[in-house]
Order: sequence, then C-alpha cells, then structure tokens
Amino acid sequence: MIDILGNMRRTHHCNELGLKDTGAEVVLMGWVQYRRDHGGVIFLDLRDREGLTQVVINPEISPEAHKKGHSIRSEYVIGIKGKVEKRIEGMTNSNLKTGEIEVIVTELKILNQAETPPFLIKDDIDVSENLRLKHRHIDLRRSRLQNNLILRHKASLIIRNYLNNNRFLEIETPFLTRSTPEGARDYLVPSRVNPGNFYALPQSPQLFKQLLMISGFDRYYQIVRCFRDEDLRADRQPEFTQIDMEMSFLGEEEIMGISEGMMANLFEELLNIKLELPFKRILYDDAIDKYGLDKPDVRFDLELKDISDIVAGSGFKVFANVVKKGGIVKALNAKGCIDMSRKDIDDLTDFVAIYQAKGLAWIKVKEDAWQSPIAKFFTKEEKEKLARRIKMEPGDLVFFVADQPKVTNEALGHLRNHIAKKTGLIDENKFKFIWVTHFPLLEYDAEEKRYQALHHPFTAPLEEDYTLLQDNPLAVKSRAYDLVLNGSEIGGGSIRIHQKNLQEKVFKALGMDKETYQEKFGFLLSALASGAPPHGGIAFGFDRLVMILCRQASIRDVIAFPKTQKAACLLTEAPSGTSKKQLDELYLKVKHIDKNLSDK
Ligand code: AMO
Ligand code: AMP
Repeated sequence: MIDILGNMRRTHHCNELGLKDTGAEVVLMGWVQYRRDHGGVIFLDLRDREGLTQVVINPEISPEAHKKGHSIRSEYVIGIKGKVEKRIEGMTNSNLKTGEIEVIVTELKILNQAETPPFLIKDDIDVSENLRLKHRHIDLRRSRLQNNLILRHKASLIIRNYLNNNRFLEIETPFLTRSTPEGARDYLVPSRVNPGNFYALPQSPQLFKQLLMISGFDRYYQIVRCFRDEDLRADRQPEFTQIDMEMSFLGEEEIMGISEGMMANLFEELLNIKLELPFKRILYDDAIDKYGLDKPDVRFDLELKDISDIVAGSGFKVFANVVKKGGIVKALNAKGCIDMSRKDIDDLTDFVAIYQAKGLAWIKVKEDAWQSPIAKFFTKEEKEKLARRIKMEPGDLVFFVADQPKVTNEALGHLRNHIAKKTGLIDENKFKFIWVTHFPLLEYDAEEKRYQALHHPFTAPLEEDYTLLQDNPLAVKSRAYDLVLNGSEIGGGSIRIHQKNLQEKVFKALGMDKETYQEKFGFLLSALASGAPPHGGIAFGFDRLVMILCRQASIRDVIAFPKTQKAACLLTEAPSGTSKKQLDELYLKVKHIDKNLSDK
C-alpha cells in the first residue's frame, strides 16, 4: 500500500521541544501558520493544536526540501524530519514555549495543499461571525477557540470524576421522546412508522431522571444535550448541554452541598481558584426586592430601593397613579454618576424601554440642590424622605421607574447591570456565586389566562404552603433553587413531588383537568404510585458555565458547531428543505417554504 506518510511518523507535537532536545532528530506534522523567505533560507511556523515550532529549510542542508519549500503557502499540511538546534543569540522568542529552539529540516513532505483561507488564523480578527461560522472548520483552528474546547473537555472530565467519586451513575435517556415541559417550544420529529405522530426532542431529561429514582438508581447524572425552540440570545442555544443530576433520600441542603463541592472542585482543578464555601443564599423575594432580577450579579452593590410609599401621595401624577393602580416605584442610585450627559440619560431611557418601561425619571444630586425634571413635584418632606431612603449624596445620579412590579423590577434590574458594566464597577476577575431559593411555585400567564409552573410542574411546593394551593396559588412558594454565577443563571433544580395525589393537585392548579393530565403524564402518576422515594435534583447549563470559565462573551465561542440567532447552522446550511419522497414517506404536506434562507 502506498501511503503519503511513507515511513514518517510524528515524534513530538508542536509545543513540546526545548533546549533539552538539542541535537535530537525529530518528526513534526501540522499546518503552516506562516512562511518567510530570508534570502535562500525558508522559515516556517508549524502549528498543531498544542502550539507552534519554528522550522528552518536551508538549501545547503536539504536542497530537495528547499525546492518544495518554495511552493508552500499558509495552511498547507506538511510533515518534516529534522534536527533540533538552539536558536542563535538574539533570535529567541520568549512568547513561544518552543522559542529557544528551531528544527533544521532534512526531509519535507507536503501532505496536502490548501486554498487561501477566507480569514487569518489568529485570535484578533475583524471578520463577521457569519463568515466565521460558514467556515467553522477553519475558524476552529484559531487558538482561542481551540483552548476553549480543550478547557471544555477538561471541565467535563473533572465533573465526571467528581460525580463518580460521589456514587453517581451516568445513565443515558432517550432523545426521541414525549414533550418535557420546561417552558419552551418543542422540536418535533415525525414518526414514519406511526403516521401523523411525532416525537419531541427532550427540553431536558426531567421525567426520565425522576423515573430512574423510582427504579432505585439512587444517584444519576448525565452530561446531556437538551433541545429548546426559543428566542436565542448571547447565552442561549437551541441545542445545549446540561450537567443533569438527580438524587434520592436527600433534601435541598445536601443537593446544594454536593453542587457546591462540584463547583469548588472544578474551579480548583481547572483554574487553581479556591471558592469560598458555602455559597451565599438569598430568598427569591429578597433578590427581586434588592436587585430586580432572580439572577442577581452580586459582584457589586447598587441596590434598588422601593419608594412607592413616599411618592404615593405626591404631586408627580405619573408616580402617584402607578401606585394607585397596584404598581410600584423604585429607585436606583448610580453613585457618583452626576456627570452623565442628557444624551447618556436618553440612551438609558431607550435601554429600559426594551423592558417595557414607559420612562426613566432622574435626579442629579448637587451640593446645594437637585437638578431634575421631576424634583419640582415633591414637597420638602418628601424630598427629605427620598434622600434618606435612597442615601443620596452630592455627585449621585438617581434613576426611577414606575410601573407594574414585573416591569419596574426588570427594567431597573437590567439597568443596574448595564450601569455597572458601563462605569467599570465590575471586577471581571471575581467569581461570585449565589443561590436563589423559595421561588414562587406558579406565575400567572396573562396571555394564556392561566397559571404556569415557574420552574416545571414536578417541583414540590413548600409543605407549609400546601393549604394555599387551591385558594391563593400565587402565594405558594416552592422548593426550587437556582445557582447564579456573576449574574448568569448557571443551574436550577428542586425537590420533586413524590406523592401521586400532590402531583395531581398541582396539575389541577395549573388548569389541567384529569383527562388532560392523565393523557400527558399518566405514566408519571402511575410511577409515583409504584413506590417513589423522596427525591430531587438540579441541572447546570454546561455551555454557560464553560463560557464563564473561559471568560467568553458568547456561548457560541465554547460550542464547536453552534447555531446562529435564527437557529441555523451556516456550515451545513441546516435547516433545509426536503424531497417530496421524504415528505410522502412521513405523510407530511408542507404549507409554506421559506426560500429566503440567505440571511440565516
Ligand atoms: P432549567 O430549565 O433551569 O432546568 O435548565 C437548567 C440550566 O440549563 C441552562 N439552559 C440553557 N443553556 C443554554 N441555552 C439554553 N437555551 C438554555 N436553557 C437552559 C441554564 C439553566 O439554569 N430539568 C430542569 C432541572 C431540574 O429541575 O433538575 C431544567 O432543565 O443554565
Ligand atoms: P413627563 O412628565 O411625561 O415629561 O415625564 C417626566 C419625567 O418622568 C421624564 O424624565 C420621564 O422619562 C419620566 N417618566 C415618565 N413616565 C415614567 C415612568 N412610568 N417611570 C419612570 N419615569 C417616568
């Protein structure tokens, strides 16, 4: 058999050789990062996933290699045999691990040619993300992305080891399954052998992991893909990976403890950072009150203050009317931001409008007076109360939003993060974890006119709130917890309902009649009746976690083949149309085809 490699076999990778190897005969293979022709002598930077080595082709040492060397271009794949030599004085490169040596070529094989790449293979390139995603196999040659994926691999290995040492079993669960309600739309797969019937890809393995507890497996985990058809953002993908866990005979304290141990182990082994345990905790209600969001970034202070009681009877009708209608007015004191211009404030007003806020009132606190479009509406006494509650000091700029609680909190919560980022309040080297606990069990969906599970319908209510389920369902708190890292929700879980009759009560509170819940979840109810242990669990967003560990701003930079905002893969051009034959086999008829996929 003729093999292009011949008898050439790699002895080292491209980030391995140093002075200790001087004189050794070695074989390296990889991609040509860069070629320089220095009056006869050709220098190549040879790259593989580990790093770079300088290779020298000298016509006096190997005329044959030198002849081939002229045709070499960037991204050619080559193999070289040669001798390691110390670089001459002044030619060393302290930025490279192999910067003290070079390899003098005695034999060269061009293993493959390469077309000129659409962009340079280096970290700081100014090209559109769409172009990078279209040529993802080339994009992935860049060291930043290579390092992200290598770190991702190490993280999953460390997590697997930790869970293994804590008696967890990794068990796979199906992808072709029934809908698992996690609040998004399902991706459906038509069944050819059952015409007109569809599988749903799992939004999470939630019900399967509960069934595994009922089967007696005690501790389960899986690093598993989940599928959700929802609006995409910088930290969301339609298919993403969870570290999914479930445990029997434990309460929230132990589940949180095991999760904290896993994070501490991960940060220590991967980044050599010792986390402070246990993580801080905050009740959901307090998180909303202080930070406006259920995923507070606690790397900085800037707490919101409710001033509804002070302004309820004030002359500023916008505020007074909102309070009268059951809304709230809250303030955010941007300490020391008095120098913001009108344009800055207008931009912030546009920013809060994203979260439906109808305006952004403000006060600049000067030494002797307030500068503000709304100050004139308040009495001396109201002003004093505001100043005290909001802790106003000269130099401060205070923002106000008045609206229904959800809008006020979201608008100011996001504004809080935005201002902290803009004014450099965030220490990017800090990792601040916080547990958010005691979420409401349900929320009211005004559009659908019914209650929805805030977490998922299998989350247990607090025992002391069982009696409220029927008459005051919104007051019921749940045994759910989220783990938040630097303002990002990296995990969430709960103690589950393990009694059939309680599960039926919750289904009813969610507006399902017996027929509906039997049809959808009959298998779960029957399993709960078969001897279900008390159990609970959690799932971490692995991509989000890796994104923070790699200090990346986009989830797409830690996923090998991610999708765009429009859920498309630009490399393979999925999704795509299909043939009439395939549709016929599936008994499907398409009503509308979007032909304009070019702006995916
Ligand atoms: P939940 O829906 O909170 O819980 O998901 C768990 C974690 O998964 C991550 N995540 C995502 N990451 C990237 N892209 C997405 N589209 C996306 N959606 C969610 C988040 C989130 O915290 N079965 C329950 C867990 C349980 O109760 O045990 C569940 O899936 O980081
Ligand atoms: P107006 O009287 O409508 O000109 O508003 C005076 C100031 O109050 C402006 O700075 C508006 O941005 C602000 N404002 C108006 N509506 C609201 C609201 N619902 N919440 C907070 N500020 C508001």
